[in-house]
Amino acid sequence: MSDKKIPLAGVIGHPIAHSRSPHLHGHWLKTHYIPGYYIPMDVTADDLPDVIRTLRKMGFVGVNITVPHKEKVMELADLVTDRASLIGAANTLIFRRDGKLHADNTDGYGFIQNLRQNAPTWNPKAGPAAVLGAGGAARAVIASLLEVGVPEIMIANRTRVRAEGLQSDFGNRLRVVDWVQAGNMMDVAATVVNTTSLGMVGKPELRVPLDGLRKGAVVTDLVYAPLQTRLLREAGEMGCVTVDGLGMLLHQAVPAFERWFGHRPEVDDATRAAVLA
Ligand code: ATR
Repeated sequence: MSDKKIPLAGVIGHPIAHSRSPHLHGHWLKTHYIPGYYIPMDVTADDLPDVIRTLRKMGFVGVNITVPHKEKVMELADLVTDRASLIGAANTLIFRRDGKLHADNTDGYGFIQNLRQNAPTWNPKAGPAAVLGAGGAARAVIASLLEVGVPEIMIANRTRVRAEGLQSDFGNRLRVVDWVQAGNMMDVAATVVNTTSLGMVGKPELRVPLDGLRKGAVVTDLVYAPLQTRLLREAGEMGCVTVDGLGMLLHQAVPAFERWFGHRPEVDDATRAAVLA
């Protein structure tokens, strides 16, 4: 019998039943004929350090980290990438062969790759971006938009002080706009991003006035359940290019899968179908 180890990975969150990541990695493991496993793990904050230690001892290659542990897990890592420290959160852990625990954040990468794949004409330098929301997801989006050269980011959040916090962390390319004035951002925005949970199944709709939206603007929503949010539907009717949020989930997983399992997976219609199944 071969003594080659079967690679093990997974996702840790609390709760975890809703996570689509096991479907995604499971699909890629199958299509690449890799005899590995990707396991969902429901772990409380109290148990997180012990679980991470145990997974390392068990020879796991890595794990994804999701809500509510993305910030706290940074304290357990030996090495943190620049992008994860800038965002203040990690979504990917790598158990390195030298025993060190490496924390990374690939959410911003996934966000940009989704736009590049599904709006190939998107030019981040074409004009300011308008970001709705100022939570953890907004941090990843803002860091990645700044990295690809967006000239200015206007940010509106219900709780203004959170947007101001982002402005002081990310610097003077950010401008805070009142939540009730969020519609005013649309006149100048070349890129519009909803990072709030509004529009998600079971949540109220996002009701920002879109009248001023530029025809060529690229509009994207991090919400992917439903795929077609009110924001995307209305923006599409106004002649904007729209990109749904599912691709961000798929693309953020690519670097981790490649690192853990040694194959770069594809993001295509079959991948989307596997995750939606
Ligand atoms: P995540 O890490 O997914 O971004 P979060 O940190 O809880 O999650 O942030 C959720 C975002 O949705 C926040 O911008 C939040 O606004 P507040 O900072 O004011 O809480 C926004 N959000 C959630 N429910 C909202 C609502 N009913 N109206 C407006 N914004 C809402």
